[in-house]
Amino acid sequence: MDKIETIIIKVNKQNPEKALIKKGADIIKSGGLVAFPTETVYGLGANGLDEKAVKKIFIAKGRPQDNPLILHVAEKDQVSPLVEFISKEAEELMEKFWPGPLTLLFKRSKLVPDCITAGLDTVAIRMPNHPVALALIKASDVPIAAPSANTSGKPSPTLASHVKEDLYGKIHMIIDGGKTGIGVESTVLDMSGDKPLILRPGGVTLEQLREILPYVEEDLSIIKDDENIVPKSPGQKYKHYAPKGEMYLFIGNLDNIVNAIDEYANKYIELGKKVGIMATDETKSKYNKGIILSLGTRKNKEAIARNLFSTLRKFDEKGVDIILAEGVDSQGIGKAIMNRMKKAAGGNIIRV
Ligand code: TXA
Ligand code: MG
Repeated sequence: MDKIETIIIKVNKQNPEKALIKKGADIIKSGGLVAFPTETVYGLGANGLDEKAVKKIFIAKGRPQDNPLILHVAEKDQVSPLVEFISKEAEELMEKFWPGPLTLLFKRSKLVPDCITAGLDTVAIRMPNHPVALALIKASDVPIAAPSANTSGKPSPTLASHVKEDLYGKIHMIIDGGKTGIGVESTVLDMSGDKPLILRPGGVTLEQLREILPYVEEDLSIIKDDENIVPKSPGQKYKHYAPKGEMYLFIGNLDNIVNAIDEYANKYIELGKKVGIMATDETKSKYNKGIILSLGTRKNKEAIARNLFSTLRKFDEKGVDIILAEGVDSQGIGKAIMNRMKKAAGGNIIRV
């Protein structure tokens, strides 16, 4: 791949400078790639109606072609040309949760390029709740296709520096709007079938969705830890969010978790491995070996979500071989946290 000159610009997060946003929009309009902050994670954007531009996203990320992309809009009016119809329930969800971390799947219209949907008959759409993302979409005047702005398989970026680490020289611009707020990606909710189905847990929780749609269900692949269940969302089947070190995820009673991690740490250190422990404020002082990083307090799972991906990247920077990670409870945003942790651990789950 030819090296691309990557321009990095810093913008005001709350009130992005018009002239700077225009530079990004000009790149989008001319078929280039621009990484930008959303309220969840950084996205890697291209003109969602330009097949050639969208294909560049797959190349820059090394993303499998069969993994469809989300289209990002800034106004609800942008949705109808992209879909066959909008149900009353979908209208209600858009009203309640947009702009915000909820991606809805609709039956697609012919306007949507095949490479966006990976050949499926549905299209994923969301309206991000971030002034920079909204300004960029408006100024570009097209729906922006954007996956998370990381190399495929790596932890999603919550800082512009993470995007730079993965994609410098492969994309045209990085818009730096500081740290993202939620830190895990949007919830993907399929509204195209008979029953609403969550395909990926994310920033909007099951509990929040059930307040509007009491009969929302989750895809079996989210509920079970069985690798033989094929997820309905293609992206969910890949090893994901994976740090370079091998991760083990400990689930169960907190005292048992601490004891088991301590044991594993001893074992791996004896084997000459560099061990990282992904702890929490409540437990970090209980460990006395290895590189200990806390995700934050268990009383604030929102903060844990915000710190998760950057902590995984920090372990990589420190060159650890083994990451021993404490699980959290799955209430609320905990569900998305545990989903990402399980994928990062790639099946190395230890129940204690
Ligand atoms: O918060 C987010 O959603 C971030 C920011 C940048 O908006 N984006 C993001 O995109 O996480 P990506 O590409 O990393 O994840 C999109 C997920 C993938 O698991 C993909 O398979 C699924 O959504 N998806 C997209 N279109 C789909 C479709 N038509 N049917 C089923 N799953 C779909
Ligand atoms: Mg992603």
